[in-house]
Amino acid sequence: MPNTIRRFLTAGAIVAAAMLALTAARTSPPHDNGLARTPPMGWNSWNHFGCNVSALLIREVADAMAANGMRDAGYQYITIDDCWQVARDAKGVIVADSARFPGGMKPLADYVHSKGLKFGIYTDAGRFTCQHRPGSYGYEDIDAKTYASWGVDYVKIDWCNAEGIDAPTQYAKLRDALLHSGRPIVFSICEWGSNRPWEWAPAVGNLWRTTGDIQDRWNSVLTIVTLSSQYWHAAKPGAWNDPDMLEVGNGGMTRDEYRAHFSLWAMMAAPLMAGNDVRTMLDSTRLAASTRDILLNRDVIAVDQDSLGVQGMVVQDNPPDLQVWAKPLADGSRAVLLFNRASVPSAITANFGAVGIKTREARIRDLWTHSDTSGVAGRYTATVPSHGVVMLRMWPVGR
Ligand code: GLA
Repeated sequence: MPNTIRRFLTAGAIVAAAMLALTAARTSPPHDNGLARTPPMGWNSWNHFGCNVSALLIREVADAMAANGMRDAGYQYITIDDCWQVARDAKGVIVADSARFPGGMKPLADYVHSKGLKFGIYTDAGRFTCQHRPGSYGYEDIDAKTYASWGVDYVKIDWCNAEGIDAPTQYAKLRDALLHSGRPIVFSICEWGSNRPWEWAPAVGNLWRTTGDIQDRWNSVLTIVTLSSQYWHAAKPGAWNDPDMLEVGNGGMTRDEYRAHFSLWAMMAAPLMAGNDVRTMLDSTRLAASTRDILLNRDVIAVDQDSLGVQGMVVQDNPPDLQVWAKPLADGSRAVLLFNRASVPSAITANFGAVGIKTREARIRDLWTHSDTSGVAGRYTATVPSHGVVMLRMWPVGR
């Protein structure tokens, strides 16, 4: 056994625990809006633009996503996060900022739809949003109906200024309001993992944040991965853990770190919501080239979007830095991630038994170099860059 992976959890124990947890998760009542059978993909304004949102920006983003390959790779929802709303009118209907969104939201939704994309919006379950715009507390039905009348396809609902409100009860109320709005709307719960959402949110929303906000740096990715990976048993088609939106392309991490970030999100069957300025993705800069290479990697996206809908998990752990992850896929293959948190490159060996490959031989595709190889004698070793990954897909060969 190579000394890079010394401490193996026994493969048998992991598989048994996995099966047990999976059975428990799959018997909880389903969220029945029929949407998000695979993790939702799209773009959200917050990580790059914060409050600086406008109809012009959203139109340009829609144009960019239709032209730069994102739409064709599966990115679908364009979501305006906080700061689009300013007030309520005399009837309690939410009012969009007329300087930034002249003409209101309906024509903007129509424009996004005309590009073959879907339209998302943000509100808060409490009295005010995190940026102190009007929240939906007490206006659940009227807001859901307003969004439906605009053509909204996706709603993210935050948890600021919600003191004294019970999260499962309030989010269930919002679920019912959306279900009765007259339009199919993906429901994204954003209470940052503060009320153990993995226990109740699968019956309420299509996705739920498991952690606080992501930041565009490596330590933030590590913190989120450590937390969110624990709740893998709660994920299933229609209901996903949400480790927050992507930072790929925003410039605060290296290429290898962004590859790791994206690969880990795919292994975790996480929603893939780009958070960069997608209007610059066709530029001739190195950052744009590597952002395209990452966000448009169809081999990795296919792992995220696999129809089996099982969240991958750590199957071999050599603390503090080296891990092997595995995610079972619908065609009987396994996605396997060799993950190196260390500040130096390291060899990591995946044991077929631990990742769920029952044969001694496997056909292997490297999902970042897009090359094919094979593994024999029941294992595969690769050198993994610092703060990086090698991501593989393995098919059993023989019996
Ligand atoms: C919270 C959410 C973020 C973003 C901001 C907007 O922090 O977790 O994702 O929506 O609010 O104010």
